[in-house]
Amino acid sequence: MRPAMADTGFWNEFYEHRAAVSYPSPFAVFAREHLLHDASSILELGPGNGRDAAFFFEHGHQLVGVDQSSQAIELCRERVEGARNPERVRFEVGDFTRLDPADFPGIDTVYSRFTLHSIDDEAEERLVQSVWNMLPSGGQFLIEARTILDPLYGKGQEVGRHAFVTDHFRRHIDAQAFIHQEIDRGYLLRFFHEGNGLAEFQGEDPVVMRAALIKP
Ligand SMILES: C[S@@+](CC[C@H](N)C(=O)[O-])C[C@H]1O[C@@H](n2cnc3c(N)ncnc32)[C@H](O)[C@@H]1O
Repeated sequence: MRPAMADTGFWNEFYEHRAAVSYPSPFAVFAREHLLHDASSILELGPGNGRDAAFFFEHGHQLVGVDQSSQAIELCRERVEGARNPERVRFEVGDFTRLDPADFPGIDTVYSRFTLHSIDDEAEERLVQSVWNMLPSGGQFLIEARTILDPLYGKGQEVGRHAFVTDHFRRHIDAQAFIHQEIDRGYLLRFFHEGNGLAEFQGEDPVVMRAALIKP
């Protein structure tokens, strides 16, 4: 469909202008309250400006963040106290759809907020397979992403199945199909909800799925 990192320029500019908010997302707060353990060691896919990474770090989690945008990673390093202590936290510029599980020992939680819908379906398959390979038994994959029921669906130029480009690329997730695909892969479904009211921001109320998948 299009290369996984096609939007690097868009996100660099977005974060260079510090357009993102700094408080933790509702999903991070929900994950912390209901899904994470105090000792969870987290890989965050596409942390952006580090709003959720900082929140997890403050709550004592070990954390690795991988984002294609060097501007985003710079903000993460600035924001997250202790970013120079690789024992606790590490941020890397890179494509999270091309991760080598061997580079992430000890990770038991993969956290993806508003990133699954930013990659095409081939990249998604690469990503979910490497997350599966990386997670230990009992590890979890936490996802929040826009779905095909989202009001933005269909806006912009159509570039593939459920995929549209406005000022950047979005591929809305068919939540039911995704969950069935991941259950077929072997995951257990710990939590699932699709709806609005979960990620309201600046007058926008997207329809998202929240999912917590556990590797048995
Ligand atoms: C919509 S922002 C979400 C940022 C943050 N998770 C949040 O919720 O505020 C998407 C982020 O994913 C990053 N991203 C998208 N595709 C990526 C890829 N293939 N590899 C690494 N980062 C990617 C972007 O650079 C951007 O920082």
